[in-house]
Amino acid sequence: MNPSVESPKLQVEDLNIRFAAGATSVHAVRGVSFSLSREKLGVVGESGSGKSTVGRTLLKLHPRSARVEARKLSFDGIDLLSASEATMRGIRGRRMSMVMQDPKYSLNPVMRVGEQVAEAFRAHHKGSRAEARERVLAMLEAVRIREPQRVYELYPHEVSGGMGQRIMIAMMLIQKPEIVIADEPTSALDISVRLQVLSVLDDLISERGLGLIFISHDLNLVRHFCDRVLVMYAGRVVESIAAADLQHAQHPYTRGLLDALPSIDSRRRTLPVLQRDPAWLTA
Ligand SMILES: Nc1ncnc2c1ncn2[C@@H]1O[C@H](COP(=O)(O)OP(=O)(O)O)[C@@H](O)[C@H]1O
Ligand SMILES: [Mg+2]
Repeated sequence: MNPSVESPKLQVEDLNIRFAAGATSVHAVRGVSFSLSREKLGVVGESGSGKSTVGRTLLKLHPRSARVEARKLSFDGIDLLSASEATMRGIRGRRMSMVMQDPKYSLNPVMRVGEQVAEAFRAHHKGSRAEARERVLAMLEAVRIREPQRVYELYPHEVSGGMGQRIMIAMMLIQKPEIVIADEPTSALDISVRLQVLSVLDDLISERGLGLIFISHDLNLVRHFCDRVLVMYAGRVVESIAAADLQHAQHPYTRGLLDALPSIDSRRRTLPVLQRDPAWLTA
């Protein structure tokens, strides 16, 4: 099949998510539409704009209190809205995976990290323990961990934040997913480590031709890392644009974010404060 005519793996049309809160409800995600092929899609917006809620809903990991409605929510032709929990278990991890912000909360503290990656592999693949171990060591090498044999035996508290995040990436990619949802995967890391982890993720995504949804509050990071960017504001997508065209962004919120980015050659002493227009909430 010609990849250029492949239909998008993920299709989201008019997604609305409400959280019940007593007698009222919070309309957290408002009419969000996008599709994802083999590309890196950044989802940017300030805290509370609905990014994580969208990400979790794609895997149906949203809380029970959430009411999810959409004209279309499909993964590779599977209607996620009506998909059973059994169907979702076949998709989660195996075909569509999520990396979270902080490996500390995702890794089991009392199990060696290598065993955890092996367990992820064995959850979906038959084979011996020895074979799983070989696959894990290869995967640890693929995320550029030196001395994978030694690292395999470590416990989560014995690895640094950057190493922990590489292990999370290894754990997710060993299952060979088609789509990866990374929710602020490097926000807890120092800047230099962050760039190393991003470069690991970037290489693996490109090599394997995966689709990536990269959630971040950092427009500067996303514009350099992703092919396309969705800008969210108060639950809505206010801008959907190729990363390379961001300087031509139309929406005043996006323009405000761009103006607020510190630049080395800028002579401004203070960063401008973003002026919010109530009309953005209804536009
Ligand atoms: N479990 C929940 N119950 C109630 N409200 C929630 C829940 N999760 C998220 N929200 C609300 O949904 C909105 C979007 O949150 P979230 O998706 O976490 O934003 P972001 O990831 O962009 O910071 C916020 O107003 C938040 O308070
Ligand atoms: Mg979030």
